[in-house]
Amino acid sequence: MSPKVAGGPRPIIIDTDPGQDDAIAILAALASPEIEVLGITAVAGNVPLELTARNSLILVELAGRPDVPVFAGCDRPLRRELVTAEHVHGKTGIDGADLPEPSTALQPQHAVDWMIETLRAAGDREVTICPVGPMTNVATVLETAPDTARHIREIVCMGGGFFGGGNTTPTAEFNVFVDPDAAQIVLHCGAPITMLPLDVTHKALMTAAWIDQLRALGSRTGEAAAGMLDFYERFDVDKYGMSGGPLHDPNVIAYLLRPDLYRGRLCNVEVETASSLTLGMTVVDWWNVTDRPPNCQFITEVDSDGFYELLLDLLARLP
Ligand code: RIB
Ligand code: CA
Repeated sequence: MSPKVAGGPRPIIIDTDPGQDDAIAILAALASPEIEVLGITAVAGNVPLELTARNSLILVELAGRPDVPVFAGCDRPLRRELVTAEHVHGKTGIDGADLPEPSTALQPQHAVDWMIETLRAAGDREVTICPVGPMTNVATVLETAPDTARHIREIVCMGGGFFGGGNTTPTAEFNVFVDPDAAQIVLHCGAPITMLPLDVTHKALMTAAWIDQLRALGSRTGEAAAGMLDFYERFDVDKYGMSGGPLHDPNVIAYLLRPDLYRGRLCNVEVETASSLTLGMTVVDWWNVTDRPPNCQFITEVDSDGFYELLLDLLARLP
């Protein structure tokens, strides 16, 4: 287990659809002594649930943390067909790394049941939930057991996009597009919410030099991470003509550890759940022109150098 720090590490649940960028977020969280990962809950998203659950097991083993329990959750969105992203992440979801099949098993409990049990056993505002995929699991928890919301310290999620549009449709980011109904439920649960959207993740792009620094760590984690990211970044570089790919999900972990690297604004954020044209759009009342109550800290700025320095430091701590 990670060494304890004064005041104790922050207990979190990572809800995830690995995904190479999810992988880096999971590895970074497991590397930090300031974070206690209570468990990892897999959800269908980038690839089907069977693979996101398998990938989560592979990643806790890669980090040398098979003690962290992994649970399989929902295999499809609340009310829609599943949309996946193999064209971005490859057939396995974590293409680019040559990693063995997991030797540990999934926990037998459904992720939703475990999250409800864990939250109810916690104190008020104690547990931080970090959704970095479609929010189907978290929304199901909140719909099944609304009383759990008071045990949530904060929901810090990667999702959404406003000023810079979407990455899946002109107006929708993937995680919210896959399950817009779930995102809307989460945004109205009453717990404090911080959203790290494309508007911030697109401002911190990977460089080839940084990926080379990962490989130069000389560790199995560094080698696997560099392989995954070499594969993963090609899509965004080709699509956007960017100098490097955005590393979306690790921004959630970096925000937990170094919120000073980020800037945003408390706003009202709503999700379009009906229109076929703008389904999954996160509508951000940035200028407070409506009377809709603020419900989300919407992050738009990041210190990119600080972000990548932090990630490299964390990944360097893993085997
Ligand atoms: O839009 C980016 C998000 O969709 C990231 O979480 C990525 O892993 C995919 O799930
Ligand atoms: Ca993800």
